[in-house]
Amino acid sequence: MTSGVKVELSNDVLVATISRPEKKNALTNDMYGALSDAIVRADVDAEVRALLIQADGDAFTAGNDISDFAAKAAGRHPEEHHATRLLRVLANATVPIIAAVQGKAVGVGTTMLLHCDYVLMSKEAQLITPFVNLGLVPEAASSYLLPLRIGYARAFEMFALGDPLPAETAVAWGIANKVVPAEQLRAEARRVADKMASKPSGSLTATKRLMRDAGRLLAQMDREDTTFEERLKSAEAKEAFDAFAQKRKPDFTKIAQS
Ligand code: COA
Repeated sequence: MTSGVKVELSNDVLVATISRPEKKNALTNDMYGALSDAIVRADVDAEVRALLIQADGDAFTAGNDISDFAAKAAGRHPEEHHATRLLRVLANATVPIIAAVQGKAVGVGTTMLLHCDYVLMSKEAQLITPFVNLGLVPEAASSYLLPLRIGYARAFEMFALGDPLPAETAVAWGIANKVVPAEQLRAEARRVADKMASKPSGSLTATKRLMRDAGRLLAQMDREDTTFEERLKSAEAKEAFDAFAQKRKPDFTKIAQS
């Protein structure tokens, strides 16, 4: 395992398992790096015909590690921002990506699903996009992809309120393909991945390329990054990060618009 992500090739399918269950699979810079490497490998390694992303524990991922957000806001930067790299790699990926979401998918846990090609969720799984609650803005081109996928009204509601979206609703709205009982999730996801891997991969990747405008996604990510960086340093974000660290509810009402 590389730092919280296990990567294994089995019968044409590269399986990446997010595994930091004690922290609800919150993603550190190293974990973003490992996921990015797995996607690049799946794209370039001729032995890989499909990529399956799954997670250990009861959460798919709690999203970005909030202490890393706080460190970044305070000017402590890692040598290389693998989170930024992961989003670019997802935008450019042509390998079919299947995701098995067994629990809460928070922040990038939800937005990465918009770059996956087949999403299965367990009945207990939920999608949560708490960017505004954290004083931040959406990323991963989700400010473009989510309204495109589910309509402005639903997308704005998800971003503005940050309320959990149940798996059944995620399927009804077209974010996910299928809800399955938790105990069948991995096997069913593997069945879909094997089926994708058996298809003519040149045709499959060309189809994916035709259906996604990587240039448009990358341009939106650049726009989002600029605003995200500004928001990270805002008083609102500081209040949200402090509140998380102190295990209390944030109070934004005393902060003038910033
Ligand atoms: N970053 C860092 N640590 C996180 C984390 C995150 N995003 N999400 C959870 N953790 C840690 C908690 O601090 C806690 O650590 P501790 O045991 O050392 O105190 C541990 O994971 C378990 O989390 P807990 O909140 O007790 O679990 P829960 O089942 O009650 O709730 C979540 C799970 C995911 C709903 C909740 O942890 C949460 O809302 N996390 C923040 C999600 C978020 O805002 N992410 C940023 C997205 S942009």
